Amino acid sequence: MITQQYFDTYEGKEINVYQLSDKIDVLICPIGATVLSIRVPDRFGKKTDVLLSMTECAEIAKNDAYMGSVVGRCANRISNGKFNLNGVSYQLTQNKGQNHLHGGNVGFNQKVFKPTIDGDSLLLELDSPDGEEGYPGNLKIVVRYSVKGSSFAIDYYAASDKDTLFNPTSHLYFNLNGESDGSILDNVVQITADSYLQVDENLIPTEKAAVANTPFDFSKPKPIGQDIDCQDVQLNIAGGYDHNFCLEDDHAACAYSTKSGVCLDVFTDCCGLQFYTGNFLNGQQGKSVYDRRSGFCMETQFFPNAINNSEWKQPVLKAGEKFHSCTQYVFSTL
Ligand code: BGC
Repeated sequence: MITQQYFDTYEGKEINVYQLSDKIDVLICPIGATVLSIRVPDRFGKKTDVLLSMTECAEIAKNDAYMGSVVGRCANRISNGKFNLNGVSYQLTQNKGQNHLHGGNVGFNQKVFKPTIDGDSLLLELDSPDGEEGYPGNLKIVVRYSVKGSSFAIDYYAASDKDTLFNPTSHLYFNLNGESDGSILDNVVQITADSYLQVDENLIPTEKAAVANTPFDFSKPKPIGQDIDCQDVQLNIAGGYDHNFCLEDDHAACAYSTKSGVCLDVFTDCCGLQFYTGNFLNGQQGKSVYDRRSGFCMETQFFPNAINNSEWKQPVLKAGEKFHSCTQYVFSTL
């Protein structure tokens, strides 16, 4: 079931939010196609919000943690904001030092998507014009949010009139203890990956490395905090986990809280999962206070900067082709 209610006024327009409900309730704001809350039953059947979020439109659009938003055109970093496509070199906006991050200065997270209710799904549409943030092609994007039972599915669709790059993700920050609990270090995580991408000092991936015998081994469930402060060059660079895992299976990851009993399973058709432990959260986020490591993200995507590494699957969307990718977040209790 989908219900709609007034939320806030943004740039002179009234913005409604949409609640998708079945066994879980998911609240969505069209700005940035942002997910504002995911309320799921805990082990006692009490609904708990497990998603960090903002409270006002202006904050949602502005916050540099991309909290709950769809990120695009390309998630993550592109080295020096440069790439070559069909022999043409392109320069994207450099909004993170010399790199391009999460779509540039005005990414999808700041755009007002057009909402339409389609049965039990909410469609959010956006047109991104040719040249926006340096990307070629007029791109049409549709994000479909659906709730069925205890599953929340995100489908991304897109098409462009010129060959372009497209690598969307959803920047959800979870704390399975409950969003205001303050720390995710006791959340237990398992990731279906034998390897991850090491990064340089600017968090640009350099090469694949085995997770075995490193703090990056999440092949068996372990608390996020177990190894996060180990002396490890890669953890030191990022101040915790902020790395892409190379997925072996469409059951990408799972996580659970021993406090609330809430379990999360992540399914995706993407090859990469950016596991980010909120290392750059710094207290005040709009009116909410979210300290460092109070939320974790499992951002499904192509490998970051893949366009500059031809051995990796390329996030290229050809003119006239249809892009579709799907990630599902499924909740249960222990
Ligand atoms: C990135 C972090 C970045 C954060 C911004 C994450 O997806 O991996 O490096 O700082 O987004 O909030």
